[in-house]
Amino acid sequence: MEESKTPLLRVRNLYSGYGNLKVLFDITMDVYSGEVICLVGRNGAGKTTLFRTLAGFLKPFSGEILFKQKNVVGNFPFEIALSGLKYVHQDKQVFSDLTVRENLELASYATKDYDWDRVFTYLPKLKVLLQRKAGLLSGGEKQMLLIAMALLGRPSLVLMDEPTEGLAPHLIQDLTQVFKEIRKETTLCIVEQNLPMVTQIADKVYSMKEGKIVAETSNPEEIRALVFEKYL
Ligand SMILES: Nc1ncnc2c1ncn2[C@@H]1O[C@H](COP(=O)(O)OP(=O)(O)OP(=O)(O)O)[C@@H](O)[C@H]1O
Ligand SMILES: [Mg+2]
Repeated sequence: MEESKTPLLRVRNLYSGYGNLKVLFDITMDVYSGEVICLVGRNGAGKTTLFRTLAGFLKPFSGEILFKQKNVVGNFPFEIALSGLKYVHQDKQVFSDLTVRENLELASYATKDYDWDRVFTYLPKLKVLLQRKAGLLSGGEKQMLLIAMALLGRPSLVLMDEPTEGLAPHLIQDLTQVFKEIRKETTLCIVEQNLPMVTQIADKVYSMKEGKIVAETSNPEEIRALVFEKYL
């Protein structure tokens, strides 16, 4: 039935890497509106390289990336972001010397979306941190700020690279709840090592190994049973 619908993001036979180094091989995937996709795989499998390529930070060697049915290969990252595909990087980089408010102002300036209240409905804790220098935030708070910045502009798709990395278990649980709310409005594609979280939120799981997608499942029972774990 999914085949009859048009995917929000369609990736076909994608090869990518760095200079002469080939990292991704023949990646094919579809992301449909409203889905939560989780991407799993060991360190070095190529998950971040895939996100960098999709978001326009790396130009693929070959292959096709269609976002909203438009080819985005060769587009600048800012063009891709403004067209509604946001990428939250793995290294939680914020402007450390600026306050949370100033960081949000930059994201609003870029997107012309000043509707912070909408974002605070997902991330209410951020409201009390507005005056704090972003460099002083805890890992969890920084992740919240990055998600808030990504949600400005009402993106159709947000790629999140290991949002739970380094977070305490109770914060991972908080973030899982945040994602369950955000997904009502935004399609999510998440690189995630925390498998219990994957079982709670994923509609579809892609397993990556050595730059290839080695398995995919959208069967809820297989996801709950962590069938994809054997490919890691
Ligand atoms: N800027 C770069 N230049 C050259 N090689 C790189 C670069 N970034 C990553 N690589 C290599 O590409 C391969 C895939 O790395 P990538 O960061 O995509 O993996 P990953 O699945 O995101 O791993 P992790 O789970 O540790 O974040 C690795 O072998 C890595 O050493
Ligand atoms: Mg990575």
